[in-house]
Formats: sequence, structure tokens, C-alpha cells
Amino acid sequence: MHANAVVHVADRSARPVSDDELCKGLAVAEIVGPAEGSVHMQISESVLDPGGHIAGHLHPFEESFILLSGEVYLRMNGCDTAFRPGDFGVVPLGVAHSWRNVSDAPVKWLRVRAPQPRDVEVVRDSTFLVDSFGLPALSSSAPPFGLPTVRHFGHFDEVQMPPPGPVAIRGANNYAVSNISIRLMVDDTVGARHHIMFVGQMASAPEQAHNAPPPHYHAFEEMYYFVSGAARGLLEGVEHPIRAGDVAFAGVNATHGFIPIGDEPLRWIEVMAPRPPEQDSMLFVNQWNAVQEASREGRRIT
Ligand SMILES: [Fe+2]
Repeated sequence: MHANAVVHVADRSARPVSDDELCKGLAVAEIVGPAEGSVHMQISESVLDPGGHIAGHLHPFEESFILLSGEVYLRMNGCDTAFRPGDFGVVPLGVAHSWRNVSDAPVKWLRVRAPQPRDVEVVRDSTFLVDSFGLPALSSSAPPFGLPTVRHFGHFDEVQMPPPGPVAIRGANNYAVSNISIRLMVDDTVGARHHIMFVGQMASAPEQAHNAPPPHYHAFEEMYYFVSGAARGLLEGVEHPIRAGDVAFAGVNATHGFIPIGDEPLRWIEVMAPRPPEQDSMLFVNQWNAVQEASREGRRIT
């Protein structure tokens, strides 16, 4: 049995991080990490209270984010930037940064760390304070999206979802899936080296059910954070009901597949870590069975 898990995010209440010289007003809900069998990623929801901050620091892992609610400011690479829901970005490994919430409402973001911190319970072991770094200015501004000088940030909007088609992910075999929309957000083009993050969607129309990705496995870990719709999830051959608010985790070589059900499209935020290889990144069980069958029947296989 390979590592896999289904997590109901609502069951993972945000635990306050005690105020100290690093942070004030921060709470973190752990979603995927060692407890779920992961060795390559740490996925959490971070909540920063009004007036809260995380002082200047850096760490030996990269950190990406997508804002779920509220507004937050980030200082990084000499710039102070304001983010709103749908904004995403990556803080590259070893790059100093600080966060601040100057609004009167809490801010929540999905936080992705890869490689997985050495000890996720002892955060200070792998987080290093940067003295005199300072916090973002009280009047930080939004990134000038559209300019090529914006290197690490982007914004996801509904209208960016492409029509359903073949899977188009680093190293994937296009013939295995034909009913998926993918909006890539975080990869090497925005400075990530250890993971990728994207929004995925599958239509739930019954006539498309046969187009759902069949169970597959791969040499990297994968996390699905479902935001709309429902599905029959298959993890290592065991069926799990999936709906918005659930997270599915597939460890290395764990077979997994999702069949959308109901009226709403199935949409999720997905993370792969380590970054998928450039070829043969996903191995589909039915395709390899077909190779065996063709061989036994004397048909061409290459
Ligand atoms: Fe997968």
C-alpha cells in the first residue's frame, strides 16, 4: 500500500502559532504533511489576523501561495506588494520576505512548501530571521500584471480556464486524458524549482464519464484541493466520496483517479512535488495493460 489520504479541510482547525519575534496573529491548519504519509510537500491554510505580521525571514524550501480570502501585503526583492483573492505566487528558496495584514479582516491563503521542511513540527529549525528586514509599507500596491517585470506572481480568474481537452502537464502523455482544463500557475517560469501548482477542472456530464482520467501513478507526490463539484475518488483501489472542501493526497506510486459526478464541474487546486520529469511523468494503468495485451496478440507496440 502506497501513501494516500483523503482529508476534510473543515476538520483541520487552524492552530494559533504563538506570538514571538517572528510572527504575530498567525494560525496554521496543516492539511498534508508527514501525518498523511508525505515526504515531499507541506500543505497548509494560513490565517493572519488583522494587524498580524510575519517578520523578515527565509528558509531552505520554496513557498507558493494562492490567496483564498482577505488581503495581504508581502515584502520581497525590494518590493511591497498587495494581494487579493485569486492572486498567487512563489517565494523562491532562500529569498527573504515578510507578510502583513493591515486590513480589518483576517486573510487566508493556501500555503505550499517544497521540499518538505526537515521537521514540520519545529518550524524554527528551518526558518531563519532576517534582522532589520522590515514589514511591507502600509500602502502597498497590486502587482502590475501584464508587465514582463512581474517575475513571481500571477492572478487566477475564472475566464482563464481553457476548454476541456487533452492533459497538458509537464511530461504527460496526451492520449490518456481528453476532458480536462488546466490553468498552470506556479512552475519554473515563476521561479519554482521543487513543485508545480495549477487549477484543474473536469466537466461532470455523464457522457464525459468515460473520459475521466483512469487510475494512474507517478514518481512525485500529488495533492488535490477540491473547490467545487463532487467525484468518486479512487485511491489505491479504494473508493472515497469527494466533494468541495476535501483534499486528496497521492504519495509516490499510489494509484489514483477521480470520476466527476453531479451537475457542477469538478474543480481543484493541484500541487505536484517534486516537479514532474520532462517525459513519462504519469503512468496510466490501463495504457500499460494495453501494451501487454497488444504484445500477447502479436500487435505492434512501438
Ligand atoms: Fe496524478
